[in-house]
Amino acid sequence: MFLGSRVTRRLSWLIPLLALVVIAACAKDFPQTTLAPKGDLARIEDDLFYTTVKWATLVFILVEGALVYAIFRFRGKPGDAEPPQVHGNTIVEIIWTVIPALILVMIAVPTVKAIFKENETPRGTPLTVEVIGHQWWWEFRYPEFNLTTANELHVPVGRIISLKMGAFDVVHSFWLPEFAGKRDVFPNRETRLWFNAEEPGEYSGQCAEFCGIQHARMAFRVVAMPPADFQGWLDHMKSITVQSAAGPQADSVHTSTAGGAVQQDNKAAPQAPGAAADSAKLAPAQAQTPQVAQGQKLFLMKGCVGCHSLVAYNAPKGLLGPNLANVGARSYIAAGTLPNTDENLAHWIRFPQEVKHGVLMPNLGVTEEEAKALVAFLRTHR
Ligand code: CUA
Repeated sequence: MFLGSRVTRRLSWLIPLLALVVIAACAKDFPQTTLAPKGDLARIEDDLFYTTVKWATLVFILVEGALVYAIFRFRGKPGDAEPPQVHGNTIVEIIWTVIPALILVMIAVPTVKAIFKENETPRGTPLTVEVIGHQWWWEFRYPEFNLTTANELHVPVGRIISLKMGAFDVVHSFWLPEFAGKRDVFPNRETRLWFNAEEPGEYSGQCAEFCGIQHARMAFRVVAMPPADFQGWLDHMKSITVQSAAGPQADSVHTSTAGGAVQQDNKAAPQAPGAAADSAKLAPAQAQTPQVAQGQKLFLMKGCVGCHSLVAYNAPKGLLGPNLANVGARSYIAAGTLPNTDENLAHWIRFPQEVKHGVLMPNLGVTEEEAKALVAFLRTHR
């Protein structure tokens, strides 16, 4: 009994450890794992990680092995004579200085190489994207195409994406675990990062630097598309105008604040081949419903328009809220906070301070009915 309880006490630390292993085994997918690289930069970092782990494992096995061997082989017995003293032995001192130094070199060389590779200007013709961190959402601009979007970064597979990053307010950190490590973004200072996506898909990213109360709800998505699809997406984004999305009423709309957001001249957006057909498919049929028209009116009356643009092409810069040109088609709203369902979108519009306390969007006293109309209106912006 006494022995049993002592053994139990000694092994009690095993219980939480086993529980942890079991719990960890239950997790099915790891959307933000850094151990499954999907691009060149992530692979450089992953290789470096494994190089370090291999050396560390070797050191651990040799040192612990020697220690355990010595403990059992040279264990002192009562009455043993004093063992020979090696303190100050020059040869031994040299050996155990040189070996760690060599190991450090074996880790330092690939580390420095990787740092240089990471900071190299991407070769070829990279696609430049400007990234701007805001409390608490991400703005993405494609200067090459004069497009602006938010929280969902569309990229073509196989092309290097060169990010020029900054922040609107405080320090954030852009982290795209499957493609690249973290990189801080600052106000008034540009940082850079590059990555390439090898496979089409949707990937998650996250702000990785504490930036205020809703730091945890500052996520984003990367949608990697085959080049032809990406071109189609660009053409479609360029074709989004207030008219095509919301019907002809937009012409008669005048607001005093940030009117540019809704009064974009749709002629400014050249219609790429196929784009007109795309937007025709997406918008006008819905655009005619009275609910959508009411939603559009509310978008102006409630002041949404003061902070959000509804066009991606040639969008006004410096607006306080995310660009909503294709909000109807995004998978998440409120920077990764909620899946983009009608219910969630309505709830978010009515109670932003409840969903994401401290966010700049105020509760605007939107009724349930009004929220439905706004959702219907926003759904036409895809
Ligand atoms: Cu932005 Cu944390």
